[in-house]
Amino acid sequence: MKIAVLKENAGGERRVAATPETVKKLTALGAQIAVEAGAGEGATIADQAYADAGATIGGRIDALVDAEIVLAVQGPDPDSLTGLKPGAWIVAQANPFGERARVDRYAALGAEVLAMELMPRITRAQSMDILSSQSNLAGYKAVLDAAAEYGRAFPMMMTAAGTISAARVFVMGVGVAGLQAIATARRLGAQVSATDVRAATREQIQSLGAKPIFVENVAGIEGEGSGGYATEMSDEYKAAQAALVSSHLAKQDVVITTALIPGRPAPRLISDAQVASMRPGSVIVDLAVEQGGNVEGAVAGEVVTRHGVKIVGHRNVPSRLAADASALFARNLFNFLNAFWDKEAGRPVLDEEIGDAIRLTRGGQVVHPRLLA
Ligand code: NAI
Repeated sequence: MKIAVLKENAGGERRVAATPETVKKLTALGAQIAVEAGAGEGATIADQAYADAGATIGGRIDALVDAEIVLAVQGPDPDSLTGLKPGAWIVAQANPFGERARVDRYAALGAEVLAMELMPRITRAQSMDILSSQSNLAGYKAVLDAAAEYGRAFPMMMTAAGTISAARVFVMGVGVAGLQAIATARRLGAQVSATDVRAATREQIQSLGAKPIFVENVAGIEGEGSGGYATEMSDEYKAAQAALVSSHLAKQDVVITTALIPGRPAPRLISDAQVASMRPGSVIVDLAVEQGGNVEGAVAGEVVTRHGVKIVGHRNVPSRLAADASALFARNLFNFLNAFWDKEAGRPVLDEEIGDAIRLTRGGQVVHPRLLA
């Protein structure tokens, strides 16, 4: 059983899908690991470190030939898969809805693509959940990015020269990224508040020492659908939320937005007029910028200034912490392969619940129901 680890070919991607630690663990399961030369460069892992862990290092085609499983962070360019064996698995964040045509091309290659971001949110799959491991780091980094752009300090400081007041930080969207953003901003000494459409987050916000900002007494307030994800809210709710948030936003120094609704464009939470209501020098970080953006005027890959407010729209924020993001991503992939490893077969054998949820292609066909609908 040969497992290939590819060097990422998407622009700006610094992460890698295996680390020396997971190479060792996969080798212990009985696999031979072939790492494409330079795969770990962006995450500061030298080829020699993989070799020391028991991997062979070589060119891309050498790594791919005879591999039964290919590990990558982002779905690899199908043109770069020369040598791939029909039936081989590609395990990655495949972005099937954003890159639908690419899925057809994987099918044409005979690959069996497993999209890790479709992992069901069930207890036994928590350790395989790449969305959680990467969002957690993105939430942390968003606060540091905001702090770096903000021309003031976060904590209150009482000095001989006078007192500096604490930054007011507002987190919109309290999933995995938002919770980490709250915790990080609190550690830096900010005064933190947060909001979400899911009522269950109110207690989580409080338990992190932040102030919940919530719409009260409006129909459809629960906001929670299957798998703990948010649902689209009623118009009445949206209007009440907009009014509440408007008055609060005008008093904030830093805003971190993380709101996503699976399968839909990111909800618009901040309008241009609301940006204009904020103090000059304030900073907004839009973590949803690549899914359409929570903030009007945010531009993916750029830091723009509107009405004196900086709007930060970095792409691929986990990649900005490539070493830790890779370590966690690689463990997610190892936990997945290990959980299904069949000693007799000498390879992983998926069950229906998880296999059917994540499998995009098989036997030359696109098989995922959400892609066939
Ligand atoms: P996400 O990345 O899909 O969305 C981020 C946040 O935005 C969510 O909290 C969502 O409610 C919020 N949001 C959506 N529309 C909004 C709006 N209009 N205004 C304000 N906020 C809005 O969410 P994420 O981080 O993936 O987590 C979703 C849930 O899944 C959480 O409850 C989390 O605890 C749960 N979860 C469960 C796991 C498991 O059981 N294995 C693993 C990871 C997360």
